[in-house]
Amino acid sequence: MTEKVALAFSGGLDTTVCVPLLEEEYGYDEVIGVTVDVGQPEGEFAEAEETAEALGLEVHVVDAKDEFADLCLDAVRANATYQGYPLGTALARPVIAQAILDVAIEEGCTGLAHGCTGKGNDQLRFEAVWRDSDMEVIAPVRELGLTREWEKEYAAEKDLPVEAGNEGDWSIDTNLWSRSVEGKELEEPGYVPGEEIYEWTTAPSGDTEEVEITFEEGYPTALNGEAMDPVELIETLNEKAGAYGVGRTDVMEDRMLGLKVRENYEHPAATTLLNAHEGLEALVLTKDERSFKNYVDQEWAEKGYQGLVNGPLVQALEAFVAETNERVTGTVTVRFEGGQARVVGRESPYAVYSAEAASFNTEDVTGDIEQADATGVAKYHGFQERLANRAMERAKAEAVTDGGDSDTGANEE
Ligand code: ARG
Repeated sequence: MTEKVALAFSGGLDTTVCVPLLEEEYGYDEVIGVTVDVGQPEGEFAEAEETAEALGLEVHVVDAKDEFADLCLDAVRANATYQGYPLGTALARPVIAQAILDVAIEEGCTGLAHGCTGKGNDQLRFEAVWRDSDMEVIAPVRELGLTREWEKEYAAEKDLPVEAGNEGDWSIDTNLWSRSVEGKELEEPGYVPGEEIYEWTTAPSGDTEEVEITFEEGYPTALNGEAMDPVELIETLNEKAGAYGVGRTDVMEDRMLGLKVRENYEHPAATTLLNAHEGLEALVLTKDERSFKNYVDQEWAEKGYQGLVNGPLVQALEAFVAETNERVTGTVTVRFEGGQARVVGRESPYAVYSAEAASFNTEDVTGDIEQADATGVAKYHGFQERLANRAMERAKAEAVTDGGDSDTGANEE
């Protein structure tokens, strides 16, 4: 029987050298490449295809954009960011891993392989999904201790088609939700990057633009009144907001294995939607809901970062998010200005805010409550602080009248 292994294939150096290694070192008869479309630029697919052809590798391309975009919008409802980063790479990995597993099952594979090194997060995110299957999980780069140098030599020796232009470039990971850049000079936390690292965002100019985003139960559904599906909405906002320099972050990121890595991200749509969503929550949720939801959101983001969005904790958190977000319906006006996506207006039928109640000009809008009723509350406000301060003053005064030796009181007995 021919033993087949499914390889997460991008056409980069790591996954390219994995192809012969899976046969030579792991004894597989056939390698099947799987490339999962989560919104990478067209050029990446063309490159992967070219490389695969030269390798004689059969590649399956799976379109998972819709599924991935849905997950990104779940992340919006949970206001999910990790150390300021909206989780583009992190959220994509379980989607990619599942798509590869599905192909592997269909093709009767007995192994699953990825080209991750032993330092990053992606190995963990992939394997969290894959190790739920009976298949052998293989990470050649990690297990054989390969270095980029060794890979290059090996590729040259084997005459493997590795993009000459790729070498020495930034390490980039792009999908619908974010573009991340790391490596080269950026590894030095003090290095100030120039404009050349950005592709999705233009340095902010003085120009501004306002957009209106419609939300239904916490999910963004329309832009400037035009209904859009998640993929279209995200792509459109990446362009629109990106033109104003929105969504650049420079993160000293704490990876799961403890490494601190400097990472630069671009995520114009994510920043816009996250800000808008939070702006609408601020209008319709009570103070208590908002502060408790902070904890829920943080946990959601943590699990998102770990690639564990399919576990029971996230399911439970989702229930809270869904319940609170039933009222997160309305429109938010966002202004792109100076690299920011600032909420400048919001409206909802569920607004807890009442202009009448907040105004001084109306007499009785809130049922039986009158302005004068606040007097009692005002009298009590700070009551405990006053008691505590008085107690301290009293104790100090007593210490002084005792002749200052009360601090040795314990020894007097
Ligand atoms: N550090 C990020 C994460 O683990 C993104 C890594 C992206 N990879 C890259 N080559 N820039 O989620």
